[in-house]
Amino acid sequence: MSNIGSYEERNKNFDWSIAEKELNYKNGDVINIGWYCSDRICEMGKANKLALVWEGLGGIEKKYTFNDIRLKSNTIAAFLKNLGIKNEERVCLFMDKMPELYIGFLGILKMGAIAQPLFSAFGDESLHVRLDNAQTTAIITQRKHVSKVRKIVDRMPYLKHIVIVDYDGKKPLREREISFSMDEAKQVENFDIFPTKAESPSVLHYTSGTTGQPKGVKHVHYSLISQYLTTKWVLDLQEDDIYWCTADPGWVTGTSYGIIGPWSLGITQCVLDTGFSAESWYKFIEKRKITMWYSAPTAIRSLMKAGNEIIKQHDLSSLRHLASVGEPLNAEAVIWSEKVFGKAFLDTYWQTETGSIMLTNFPGMKIKPGSMAKPFPGITATILDPDTYKEIMEPNKPGLIGFRPDWPAMMRTYWRNEETYNKKFVNGWYIPGDRSTIDADGYFWFVGRDDDVINTGGHLVSPFEVESALLEHESVAESAVVAKPDEVNMEVVKAFVTLKPGYEASDDLELQIMNFIRKKLSPLAMPQEIEYMKTLPKTRSGKIMRRVLHAKEWGEEIGDTSTLEDDE
Ligand code: WTA
Repeated sequence: MSNIGSYEERNKNFDWSIAEKELNYKNGDVINIGWYCSDRICEMGKANKLALVWEGLGGIEKKYTFNDIRLKSNTIAAFLKNLGIKNEERVCLFMDKMPELYIGFLGILKMGAIAQPLFSAFGDESLHVRLDNAQTTAIITQRKHVSKVRKIVDRMPYLKHIVIVDYDGKKPLREREISFSMDEAKQVENFDIFPTKAESPSVLHYTSGTTGQPKGVKHVHYSLISQYLTTKWVLDLQEDDIYWCTADPGWVTGTSYGIIGPWSLGITQCVLDTGFSAESWYKFIEKRKITMWYSAPTAIRSLMKAGNEIIKQHDLSSLRHLASVGEPLNAEAVIWSEKVFGKAFLDTYWQTETGSIMLTNFPGMKIKPGSMAKPFPGITATILDPDTYKEIMEPNKPGLIGFRPDWPAMMRTYWRNEETYNKKFVNGWYIPGDRSTIDADGYFWFVGRDDDVINTGGHLVSPFEVESALLEHESVAESAVVAKPDEVNMEVVKAFVTLKPGYEASDDLELQIMNFIRKKLSPLAMPQEIEYMKTLPKTRSGKIMRRVLHAKEWGEEIGDTSTLEDDE
């Protein structure tokens, strides 16, 4: 029996107080995610239950019970407090998927600071932009990433502490750097958890837009209510489940459903801190006896490509429930998974901003492969006309998705960017910026994004950020960046550039520029192809028309460019 039981029944008289009651929370109470994910689970008698089974390179393994994560998050919280960090100050987590990342997240929340997780593959420039916007007080990182912080530290007077969790004493620490070992530090049995309330800020996740710098999405402790219930009803986690969320906590899926959701339910989760390969993933499922697997379409497509032979070599019979998020999940992938695993991946749709699952398939609900299915109970979702923002009542007619912004995990603002935040609301609807249709049965079908953001393998990349970084290369005069279709990643980054006088177009230069972006921004943002142009298409006022280049890549009609000329 699934946790949700009947979707129709749950939809009738739905109220978020269902989750509040289960979490024993009443309006006005103290609510701290760090406490809910560790201390409370111990109080419920699960102190000795495994919370985290971690596997790193070469199969090394670490295991932590709920009591371990309670103690260790206390220890981290006390350490940060002793450094003088105050509630609501930003503490960045900049690490690979090591245990310190997961447990450190709880520690930051316990002492009342705001956790700012950043993807550890980010280069120095990507890191700087996000720390600068957040005016981050401390960064928790590991040896292998310290050099990136050192490159930019002189530009960050607000950054007071650089905490290194795996310092080996070999090279001297520099100013502001400090070593902290989670396992060797004296464990703190009792920590005075900061009495955060529903609206106290908890997490700051950065997401990319079409224009301007990345936006810091501010969440609050009350988001737990949504994250708990969606985990329970969609991911369907049950007492004996062994859960694997493949997302990195540098992105929202890795925190909402890679930390908060499972641990607030007291579920054992496994983490694989190595790169992707079909072989290592299947091995991991087999060895850890994973029962619930939350992953992403690009990974699923890569597994499809690896073929079915390799599946037969592994015992994957522990799997009982699969779900996916981050990009459109094509019908073929749904059908394939049903065939090879005996279970279909359930597509779930949401965003960094929404904080929790919005549109989704549910266990037991009829699957229409390729569809995002229906709103989570309590979520009012519609399709809006892009010009009038009126609701489209006709089935199958594409428009903008709109949500009534009244669920607990909804973002509270974009950090120091209220103006852009306000633009996300029209006529009382929150506009996530995606287009969809609804069919006659009320199922949502993803159509596309409504902006130029590139979704590569489930990671959002801002063309603006890449264009700006390209201009910093000595050879580049002008740049335009668009998505290019890709079989596995759905989209990859493609750049068009014009060169400064004295520079010759060559394959060598292309590699140089690619590498420059990879280091500065990240491997995700690195253009997979650079096309040299004599001129870039521009409007009369001199703005580059990405749309023309985009249409060219996708083999679409460019349409009447005279009407495009001035409206960019
Ligand atoms: C896209 C990830 C199609 C969408 C949790 C959204 C999807 C953006 C789906 C958010 C899906 C996410 N089908 N597209 N099931 N899920 N997207 O903020 O464009 O990294 O707005 O959050 O990914 O990406 P974000």
